[in-house]
Amino acid sequence: MKIKGCFTAAISFCMLVLLFCGCGRQQSEVPEKIQVGVACYNQSDVFLGELVSCLKQQFEELEDSGIEITVMVRDAAGSQRTQDDQVRELIDMNCNVLCVNLVDRADPSEIIDLARDNDVPIIFFNREPVAEDMMQWEKLYYVGAKAQQSGEMQGELAADAVAGDAQTDRNRDGKIQYVVLEGEPGHQDAIIRTESAVDTLKSKGVALEKLGSGIANWDRAQAQNRMQQLLSQYPNQIEMVLANNDAMALGAIDAYKKLNYTEAALPVFFGIDGTEAGLEAVIEGKVAATVYNDKEGQAQAIGNLAVAAVTGRGMDEMAFENEKYIYLPYQKVTEENVREFLY
Ligand code: BGC
Ligand code: CA
Repeated sequence: MKIKGCFTAAISFCMLVLLFCGCGRQQSEVPEKIQVGVACYNQSDVFLGELVSCLKQQFEELEDSGIEITVMVRDAAGSQRTQDDQVRELIDMNCNVLCVNLVDRADPSEIIDLARDNDVPIIFFNREPVAEDMMQWEKLYYVGAKAQQSGEMQGELAADAVAGDAQTDRNRDGKIQYVVLEGEPGHQDAIIRTESAVDTLKSKGVALEKLGSGIANWDRAQAQNRMQQLLSQYPNQIEMVLANNDAMALGAIDAYKKLNYTEAALPVFFGIDGTEAGLEAVIEGKVAATVYNDKEGQAQAIGNLAVAAVTGRGMDEMAFENEKYIYLPYQKVTEENVREFLY
């Protein structure tokens, strides 16, 4: 009896020890199931829509490599309020990492507070929060590209086009009369792209005359509208259109078509992004050149970072700048190399 009692006590002790060890292990163990919440500012934005498709594909590939992943995507349709609610909902649904494409890049505080309270890391992408906000918590990251580089490349491409074709200066006054179609005010890519494209053209010795500009919020239809207004002010005078993205370059072309301009009377158009429609327009010679915004590279970085942020593995392999930023390089696209960008 006594021996049996001792034996039972010993067994219970062992079980307790095991239980403790087990609990301890479970607590320090990282969750292997990755539940990603993706919040987008507006999926009707052409580039963003294509970037989100790449991101979904990236997560599928990671899943094929044996990582258990579920992805939930929400579209805020342009409202920060809606996005805040969607992030709350994603956290309630047990997402353990968030990929956030902010509506208002100057207003991420509510989302950051929610994520920090629940210890859910955030990878912001495409719409860069200001530096002070990125400092609010150590588990905040950003994946994107450098606006200045895209503007410089657009300026170089435009300078090459002017140097390569005397016809660009249609009225032969030694200057290029140009207009700019700008993205959303306040977006890191809008003003900087315009400034660096124009500065680069000037630094390459191209004499410029700015006729006007219009804000078209990255949107093709708005760009068509703005361009029609510019054309009513400056009929037959515009020699170059610098658009902050492809969608707006295509909108500008739509305006000329709508107003029945002949092919021979068109200016040169430049875009940025290399969206499907943008690349197609380069192939057809409608857009002179564009700058590739590497959505595949960005999606890959976001995917790998999401896995690393949840599991803690692979963080060392991330190409961080300033510990939390990953920037993918832009590339110039002309009719010579455009086919390399078709996937
Ligand atoms: C892209 C635009 C897009 C915007 C959305 C930019 O980087 O070039 O096409 O509309 O991001 O935030
Ligand atoms: Ca001229």
